[in-house]
Amino acid sequence: AFYRQKIKSLLVDKNAVIVAHYYTDPEIQALAEETGGCVADSLEMARFGAKHSASTLVVAGVKFMGETAKILSPEKQVLMPTLEAQCSLDIGCPEEAFIRFCDEHPDRTVVVYANTSAAVKARADWVVTSSIAVELIEHLDSLGEKIIWAPDRHLGRYVQQQTGADILCWEGACIVHDEFKTQSLEKMKALYPEAAVLVHPESPQAIVDLADAVGSTSQLIKAAQNLPNPSMIVATDKGIFYKMQQACPDKTLYIAPTAGEGATCRTCAHCPWMAMNGLKAIADALEGSTQGHQIQVSEILREKALRPLNKMLDFAE
Ligand code: MLT
Repeated sequence: AFYRQKIKSLLVDKNAVIVAHYYTDPEIQALAEETGGCVADSLEMARFGAKHSASTLVVAGVKFMGETAKILSPEKQVLMPTLEAQCSLDIGCPEEAFIRFCDEHPDRTVVVYANTSAAVKARADWVVTSSIAVELIEHLDSLGEKIIWAPDRHLGRYVQQQTGADILCWEGACIVHDEFKTQSLEKMKALYPEAAVLVHPESPQAIVDLADAVGSTSQLIKAAQNLPNPSMIVATDKGIFYKMQQACPDKTLYIAPTAGEGATCRTCAHCPWMAMNGLKAIADALEGSTQGHQIQVSEILREKALRPLNKMLDFAE
């Protein structure tokens, strides 16, 4: 309660607003909601931050989300609870190797997931999020374009199967989604035959094959609401349960099984970097020491990364 109160008054003093991802911890999402901020996927976070009149954005998520906010709103101060909150997809797609890969295939349109660094975005023709991935690739395919897709190989394969597009895929993966286990999920389905299985397409093929609905976070929340089943087995970061349970309070939500049990699972379906976004860290960020909190993107990089990001926002309208 101490930090919640402190953050609330700091937000007012500093003309700041919290922009939080669905995968952050419930207390962070609740605070964002209570204080007029947003809880959303990366596309909505980008839109919300760019349109909001606050002079400071506190981005509770992982680093690329802060960078995206700064690229779209250079006039705003963008703070993060910690700049150490990384993303395995971003880490798995280093700038130099990626640029070389693109240069080897100059005939291909470069489409990168939002989960990448500003430098990787700067080399891209398009940025995309999972909520519009299939539509955008369908559109580019209809124009006869051949695609480089980076960094998530599972999402790339899923989009390829949905669209039939010619896609050359970077071999990255999300450590959370990569960990869902097929045999355990089959057992769980047998245990809860009335449950629908909801799967994020960053998961391995065998998990997607067991799904009743496949989609991005916002699409899975809608599916949980719309499907008639009384319960859901959910294969994505369990941070999503906060908004999913709000959307369907009467339904029972189970997290899909991950590799290992208890203390032996690597992520246990929760991103360790998202979990770094705590209340104290938000208070510290707002309190003044910008070191370790303030997102900076050089103007040269910003201008280059802005183009494919704006194309994404225009396409998503
Ligand atoms: C995002 O766009 O925030 C992530 O891909 C998760 C999702 O929304 O599916």
